[in-house]
Amino acid sequence: MGPTFTDEAKKTAPNSIRALYGATKTENATHGSDSLKSAKRELEYFFKNGGNLQRTLALIKPDAVKANNNNKIINLIKYNGFSIIDNKQFKLTEDKAKEFYAEHKDRSFFKELITFMTSGDIIALKLERINAIKKWRELMGPTKREDALKANPNCIRALYGTNTTQNASHGSDSIQSAQRELKFYFD
Ligand code: RTP
Ligand code: MG
Repeated sequence: MGPTFTDEAKKTAPNSIRALYGATKTENATHGSDSLKSAKRELEYFFKNGGNLQRTLALIKPDAVKANNNNKIINLIKYNGFSIIDNKQFKLTEDKAKEFYAEHKDRSFFKELITFMTSGDIIALKLERINAIKKWRELMGPTKREDALKANPNCIRALYGTNTTQNASHGSDSIQSAQRELKFYFD
């Protein structure tokens, strides 16, 4: 952010937010908590009742990586207030994909899902924000592309999905699955 007063910010930190976008001593564009204690108080003030700092797993699936949509998706993730704590790009093996999606092993789409998920690189992201699990699933939108288009044309699956299987992204659906899935990719 830079120093409190715009004049001082321009002199000592010309690339800081307040140097670039502040106007006066009072109108200085942004605020930031100044200690652990004030961060706790201020976070409770803005996010009371609804605020749990969480981590969740996001995957950018092979269709989106192949189409070079990964950077657009990562920009959307950052723009929506998520911190990217860790990330890796790699190809899932068939065994790993089957293990990851074991809950769906008896479903009719399982084989198609495994073929798709092993068809190219994926990007795994460890995301953090207030209510990350729910917020990431909201940003992805519904599983099926036609539902995603109806629900919100700006969600990731509406923008970058192809069909129900090739739907650009994955997100953990509960606290338990976030823990399991983050461990699966990052431990
Ligand atoms: P995800 O686990 O990938 O975040 O997606 P989701 O919770 O919205 O959907 P889920 O029911 O867990 O399904 C996992 C993935 O399987 C593929 N799928 N294909 N062709 C089909 O009918 C069908 N149904 C599901 C999708 O890739 C879905 O994301
Ligand atoms: Mg799921």
